[in-house]
This record gives sequence, structure tokens and C-alpha cells, in this order.
Amino acid sequence: MLGIRPKLPPSCLGVARAHLLLQVTLTNLMSHACACAGSLPVLVPPCTTSRLTLSWKKGRSNTSPDEEDQLLERLRPHSNLHELCIDGHGGSTCPTWLGKNLLTKGLEALCLDSVAWKHLPPLGELYVIGQSVEERESGEEFSSCITGPCFRNLKRLELIGLPRLRRWVANEVCPWYFSLIEVLIVKDCPELTELPFSSYTSCYPLETDSCVTWFPRLNELKIEDCRNLLSLPPIPYSDALCSVTLTRVGRGLEELRYSSKTYHSLSIEGNGDMHSLDETVLAFHNLTQLQILCIKNCPPLAEKHLQMLTMLETLEINGSSNLFLPLARSDTIWQLPVTSLKLWRCNFSGKEVTCLLTHLPELLA
Ligand SMILES: *[C@@H]1O[C@H](CO)[C@@H](O)[C@H](O)[C@H]1NC(C)=O
Ligand SMILES: *[C@@H]1O[C@H](CO)[C@@H](O)[C@H](O)[C@H]1NC(C)=O
Ligand SMILES: *[C@@H]1O[C@H](CO)[C@@H](O)[C@H](O)[C@H]1NC(C)=O
Repeated sequence: MLGIRPKLPPSCLGVARAHLLLQVTLTNLMSHACACAGSLPVLVPPCTTSRLTLSWKKGRSNTSPDEEDQLLERLRPHSNLHELCIDGHGGSTCPTWLGKNLLTKGLEALCLDSVAWKHLPPLGELYVIGQSVEERESGEEFSSCITGPCFRNLKRLELIGLPRLRRWVANEVCPWYFSLIEVLIVKDCPELTELPFSSYTSCYPLETDSCVTWFPRLNELKIEDCRNLLSLPPIPYSDALCSVTLTRVGRGLEELRYSSKTYHSLSIEGNGDMHSLDETVLAFHNLTQLQILCIKNCPPLAEKHLQMLTMLETLEINGSSNLFLPLARSDTIWQLPVTSLKLWRCNFSGKEVTCLLTHLPELLA
């Protein structure tokens, strides 16, 4: 399959920008390594919306890093490429056309899957850990920053199965790295401790002015299996965010799902290590439209937060030792329009339940 040179549709030549999705997928690249002796640019016609996937077989034991680096270096795509996915590459670094001589500046979607590169594409300040067992054990991290040209139009970024990725740090040198991203997916990065959300966690309680909104246009955030990841933003931290799934990440989160698409709903499950369910985890001031809230194995909510959920219709709590933590002086009157309340495996006193019910008048009506 290597060496595909897509045929230009005749109409393409004259049309400024055909709405044609051209997809080139090169798979099992190593088994064709010999085909790469010469230079092998993958020519993608400039007038199409183009997607290129360069895929190596995953989990191979017989990687040859140098050859694979050379091969990838030669697979220089056209500078007009819109979507790029590199997966399973066994080399040790990012090709120059995706790094310091960034060719694909207009890329709109980038997916890196199962690569253990020491340099990553220019996405700001990134740090990786070493490859060898000794280096890993020493815990030392190395800067993987590439400076120079950066992506101007990146809207979707997927970082999957990157065993060396340790930190992606917020810095303001090149803010547009973040300003356009709408979809961010991060999966299976066991060493990852930091994403550029740390300003939210470090400047709490927040005066918004002093906090930069990283990823202001982010509308879909999915993070899975990053157990050491601690820098997570309070959900939902912006208006734009409408779908969030966090699964098995740090700070004691087994799963958090938030959606504002049809119903405003949020479900959160702790794994026993969550210390508190406060405004560093949930942006309560942004949850005034929330209709459904399901809480499982989490510490109790504070009364001052619960009373902010002024549109709440369904409340489910599974496994908790307290219903909510009452205010020290509770003379404010607050009521929620809850019409469905479900409690499982809870250890509340009758007094607590009675107290909660006084705030949920619809249930008694
Ligand atoms: C959420 O809060 C941030 C500030 O913390 C604000 O900029 C944003 O507009 C709020 N969004 C909603 C939906 O209230
Ligand atoms: C409550 O949690 C327990 C333990 O995880 C689970 O077995 C049960 O199905 C949950 N109940 C509901 C209604 O979700
Ligand atoms: C339930 O609450 C009572 C009284 O607060 C306490 O003595 C008991 O240990 C709790 N049980 C569990 C399983 O948490």
C-alpha cells in the first residue's frame, strides 16, 4: 500500500476547494520498509480536504527505531494536510516536518497514538521521561519542547498511549496553541501528571482575571486512564465546554461525565481517594442550569454548593456517609426544584433526611 499517489479528481483542478474528503491510510509500514529507499513524499492534492494516517502495527517486539525514524522522515506530507494521525511508530522522535521545520502548519486535527518519542510536535512546553529502565527509575524529565513555527489552526488533538509523556505545561509564549482547540482527547498516558489546566488548580479560589482560560474554545474533553494526572480543571470551567468524560484519572476520580447537550447532567464517581467534592472539582457557579446530578462514592457536598444548583430536578446519591455538609450558620432559605430523589447505600440519620427534604418542596407536594 505504500507509495499511494491519490488520483486527482478532474474537477479538483479547477475548483478552489473541493468538498472532498481524501483519506490516505498507510498501514503496516515496516513490512514495506524496502520501498522507502528513495525519497517518498506522500503527495496529497492541495485542493482537497485531506487526511493522512500513518500506521504501524502496534505492540511489535521487533521495532527498529532508526529505520522507522528515517522512514517517517521521508513520508513528508503535502503542506496542505488537514488531518494527520501517526500510530504505532517505533522510532524515537518526531519527524522534522512535524517538528522544527513544521510543514503542516495548517493542520486541523492531529492524533498521536502509541509513540514513545523524545521530541513531540510544537505544542508548547512539554516534558517527557527517559526510555530506559534506569532513566525511568531516576524520575528525571527532559524538555521535549520544539520552538519555531507552530500550528495555526489546530482544533482537535488526540494524545493516546504516550508512555513517556510527563507534563504539558501552560505557558504564555504561544497562547494560540491552546486558543483554537475544540476537542482534546488524552488516553493511556500513565506517566502524565500535568496538562495545561494547572492554572485552574493553582489559583483557587479564583479571581477569573488572574487566571488564564486555557482552551477557551474547548467543547469536548475526554481523558481516560491517566492515573497520575492531577491538574484537572473544575467542570465546567467555561461556557463552551459541553461534553466532558474523565475516566480513571488522578484526584480520586473513577469517572466524571458532564453534558450540556440535551439535558444538563453530571455524574461523578469517586474511587475512595477523593478528599473533597468542592469547587476545585466542580465549578458550581457554572452549574446553575444543571438538571441531573448523580454522585457515587464521593465525599459529601457542601450545603453552600448544593444550594447553587437552582434548576436541579434529579438527585441521586449512591454511597455516602453524609447527605451534605451544613453551613456553620444556616439561616438562608434555599429550595431546589427536585422531583426525583434516590439514595442508595447511604448512612444518614433521619434528621439529616428531614433537613434535606425541607429544601426540596416539590417532593412533598
Ligand atoms: C463559568 O465560569 C467562568 C468563570 O469561572 C465564566 O467565564 C463562564 O462564563 C461561566 N460559564 C457559565 C456557563 O456560567
Ligand atoms: C450503587 O453502588 C453499588 C456499588 O458500586 C452498585 O453495586 C449499585 O448497583 C449502585 N446502585 C445504583 C442504583 O446505581
Ligand atoms: C453510620 O453512621 C453511624 C452514626 O453516624 C456510625 O456510628 C456508623 O459507623 C456509620 N456506619 C457506616 C457503615 O458508615
